[in-house]
Amino acid sequence: MARTVFVNGEYLPETEAKISIFDRGFLFADGVYEVSAVVNGKLVDYPAHMERLARSLKELRMDWPCTRAELDAMHLEMIRRNALHEGIIYMQVTRGAADRAFNFPKPAPKSTLIAFTQTMALVSNPNAVTGVKVITTPDLRWARRDIKTVMLLAPVLGKQEAYDKGAHEAWMVEAGQVTEGTSSNAYIVRNGKVITRGLTNEILAGCTRRALFQLATEHGVEIIERSFTPAEAYEADEAFLTSASQFVMPIVEIDGHRIGGGQPGPVVRKLRELFLAEAGRLGGSPREVRADNLRLCGPPPGDRNSQCQSAAGTARWTVSSMV
Ligand code: PDD
Repeated sequence: MARTVFVNGEYLPETEAKISIFDRGFLFADGVYEVSAVVNGKLVDYPAHMERLARSLKELRMDWPCTRAELDAMHLEMIRRNALHEGIIYMQVTRGAADRAFNFPKPAPKSTLIAFTQTMALVSNPNAVTGVKVITTPDLRWARRDIKTVMLLAPVLGKQEAYDKGAHEAWMVEAGQVTEGTSSNAYIVRNGKVITRGLTNEILAGCTRRALFQLATEHGVEIIERSFTPAEAYEADEAFLTSASQFVMPIVEIDGHRIGGGQPGPVVRKLRELFLAEAGRLGGSPREVRADNLRLCGPPPGDRNSQCQSAAGTARWTVSSMV
């Protein structure tokens, strides 16, 4: 059965959805996106995604395509219309359609907003049982990786290289240090402590990363924010990645080096369990989108490096109810 997708205010069968060939997302990758997980028909960590969207739009001087309340309603309606139990909602905003010119069009066209759902096994993902393999590859991306743009050719090439080599993800390397995965954040564990790169323009501030930090703090797992080299990763006790579509995913091999004897280790297993328990608990008890979550569409943090220290701390994990 064709999915119902969303295009500029309309819910349509996917076969009927149309976007202008002049859309700047298509011509220039002039757009931003978010991917939110859905578990038990409920959005996971949605306020954090909306906060990051606000920041991405601001950094690119793009308008909101609609109000935050309309965006909330659209997400819930997409779950309802597609009877989405477990998977993701992808949403994208572009600067809109205009005659091709590099500078921003004047007057500004109406931004384009699209969304679609994908059913995926997030909780019972078989990869989480076995762990996955990663390779390393040079980081070919631009200098503003903190903005979640649809300009994803370097990650596409990196991911394909990983698949060609029988791996699941590529960790990108710059100046000898791992930045992050092509579509995930990167972590190693040494002596029970988690090590991951600090937030700068060089990586995306993952919403799952932020949730993990809070869970780790609550459960006494220390996280150290610093860069690490592939060589250090080869020697690590454990390794893992995080993203909205993979949650906390164990890694058992990096560039052919077995990690933790080739089995998911105790720290990553604990962190994944904690993550799933929290998502499942809230996903199982429908809640309204709270008023304090809606405030998160207000001014995003001005400082590029303060993305994770925002007011969203209290709203994390709130799972929106279906309407
Ligand atoms: N990718 N780093 C990069 C480069 C990413 O593309 C992503 C997410 C992350 C993790 O962010 P989060 O925890 O908020 O999902 C880190 C999404 C899932 C994607 O493009 O499909």
